[in-house]
Amino acid sequence: MPKTSGRLSQFTESVIRRMTRVANQFGAVNLSQGFPDFEPPAALLQAAERAAREGPHQYAITWGAANFRAALARKQARRMGLPLDPDANVVVTCGSTEAMMAAMMTACNPGDKVIIFSPFYENYVADTILSGAEPIYVPLRPPDFAFDPGELERAFAQGPRALILCNPSNPSGKVFTREELLFIARLAEAHDVFVITDEVYEHILYAPHQHTYFASLPGMFERTISCSSLSKTYSITGWRLGYLLGPEAVVNEARKVHDFLTVGAPAPLQEAAVTALGFGDDYYLDLQALYTAKRDLFLGYLDRAGLAYTRPQGAYYVLVDIAEFGWADDVAFAEWLARAVGVAGVPGSSFFREPVRHLIRFHFAKRPETLAAAGERLLGLRERARSGPDC
Ligand SMILES: Cc1ncc(COP(=O)(O)O)c(C=O)c1O
Repeated sequence: MPKTSGRLSQFTESVIRRMTRVANQFGAVNLSQGFPDFEPPAALLQAAERAAREGPHQYAITWGAANFRAALARKQARRMGLPLDPDANVVVTCGSTEAMMAAMMTACNPGDKVIIFSPFYENYVADTILSGAEPIYVPLRPPDFAFDPGELERAFAQGPRALILCNPSNPSGKVFTREELLFIARLAEAHDVFVITDEVYEHILYAPHQHTYFASLPGMFERTISCSSLSKTYSITGWRLGYLLGPEAVVNEARKVHDFLTVGAPAPLQEAAVTALGFGDDYYLDLQALYTAKRDLFLGYLDRAGLAYTRPQGAYYVLVDIAEFGWADDVAFAEWLARAVGVAGVPGSSFFREPVRHLIRFHFAKRPETLAAAGERLLGLRERARSGPDC
């Protein structure tokens, strides 16, 4: 049999999605892969029914249906404080996943270097390798996940083509401060580097933390490719609607990558989602209140279980410290947790370049009863752990 591409030996299948299969195998409450178990907004579902009946059912314009791009540009221009032209600054993609891949292939030549903060969302390493580039890792050190300015400067000194910025951040829940972003911006400008943002959690924030769009910083629009999606904001991870925003010259190139990767995002779902993009400010305030309640409910259980964790500032993940249980291997711990305790999380090592083996990531985008079921089980974790790994 012919050999498959050597690129593929440089990364493994997604640990996150594997943990979902482990959860199913053991009937565990699945707090591993980050997707909601509650319904999207009713108005959006009604719009989807309408689109199913009335169409469109054929390809949309490859870089996005005109009404979707107009609604998106209107919403994002207001949120980001930037003038966005739906015909010049937008490519509609199949989720932020495709937007990130398209952005990387647009920005990078084979052999280029790309700065990735560690911990990172798993896809960034695969995106970098698939686009022929090479990662430079800069640690965000737990528990507060700040970067060392000197370390970042040394990474920029290696002549990267791009930096990937996940903000609010998965898995750490970090929201980068404006000062941190300005520091990155100064370096990006000095070294003429693209910043590729993944901002899928732009609307999931916990007071007093606020999201700053990197592209909105002085002078940064010209070197930023902003990727995001509707997956998390409207609880529609399965609809596969995302986008990238950027300056016209970059967007024109990204359209070509996108066209040959996927042709386009689902036309009837773009049509339906125009409704969501027109929601008023209340929707986003309610979303924050909803997630704040979920976070507080789940963290309350962690407190009662006496587990240490870093309090998330944004996104819907929490990293729990399992050092006290004395396991050398967090993957084995996560599997034991799913089997013996009945709660599935993701071993922290899958997010870190450094040898970090003492963290488990849980997500809390779940109904209160799901979080309570997981929380009740976690209350028994210490007891189970005392009985030994074979129980
Ligand atoms: C940081 C981050 N980016 C992208 C995605 C995937 O987004 P999409 O559904 O838009 O492809 C996720 C999903 O968990 C994520 O956490």
